[in-house]
Amino acid sequence: MSRSIRKIAVIGAGTMGHGIAQVAAMAGYEACLTDTNEETLNSALSHITANLQAGVDRGVVSSDLKEVTISRLAIGTLSEALVKVDLVVEAIVEDLAIKQALMLEIERRVSKETILASNTSSLPIRKIGSGLVHPGRMIGMHFFNPVHIMKLVEVVVSEKTSMKVRDAVVACAGKMGKEAIVVKDVPGFATSRLGVVIGLEAIRMLEQEVASAEDIDKAMELGYKHPMGPLRLTDLVGLDVRLAIARTLHEELGAEQFRPPALLEKKVAAGELGRKSGRGFYKWPE
Ligand code: NAI
Repeated sequence: MSRSIRKIAVIGAGTMGHGIAQVAAMAGYEACLTDTNEETLNSALSHITANLQAGVDRGVVSSDLKEVTISRLAIGTLSEALVKVDLVVEAIVEDLAIKQALMLEIERRVSKETILASNTSSLPIRKIGSGLVHPGRMIGMHFFNPVHIMKLVEVVVSEKTSMKVRDAVVACAGKMGKEAIVVKDVPGFATSRLGVVIGLEAIRMLEQEVASAEDIDKAMELGYKHPMGPLRLTDLVGLDVRLAIARTLHEELGAEQFRPPALLEKKVAAGELGRKSGRGFYKWPE
């Protein structure tokens, strides 16, 4: 299992997927991005180009790197993305059944050495990979938003994941300029379990009118040196994504602190999903 990684397929071109494809191509990998939504897939390329141009403008990305990164990037169908692929990073909707079905379909179409990684923020990796003929290839590769800026990749290893696959993914994250931490396949891993508690509690505080959204955020920014308050961060993550994670953790850990607050449920039902929909706890663009 596991050969050297040359081509990476990123499935799902939303908030996370387009960023993952960008850092993969910047690191020298051939990257192919795919999505079932054609509009999202096309706009992903313009988001990546805009990100790279912002890097050029700030003097942190050279024009050459911008050009070569774009030349290593492709968008295509799932079949095109899976041709001669060494690593698949799945970044689709946070839904266990949909992710499981996708993994089974991908496994049927790739070589037995291809590594299958999920960017899930909360779902158990062993469950996403259940039913695979070669479960040792399944691993979590959890990036953070925005992917081209955030340095961490949480590598989630289930009891089935092979050590070779773990080492290959840790090395790949390093090549992408990220710091990898290796975490056991427990609900919420290390990051979501801690981060989501703060985010949900901030929403409950807003419900109870403890303070305004701005002041709750300021409390953590100035009082605890968090670079961004929990409500603004929830807007960036996506309220729907946070809600899905809260539901999973509430069910898996059986802990009350993960019960989704009514305000979060209400906003998601109203289509207030945060930055991507133009409104969440704040109005976007700010
Ligand atoms: P998103 O909603 O922005 O994008 C998901 C994309 O997947 C959509 O464009 C959708 O059309 C596409 N999609 C859905 N089913 C598909 C399928 N079967 N095949 C191909 N494309 C499909 O979601 P986002 O925020 O990018 O999240 C993706 C994953 O990353 C989730 O598992 C989430 O938990 C995780 N994650 C999200 C973070 C965030 O800050 N938003 C941070 C870290 C992980």
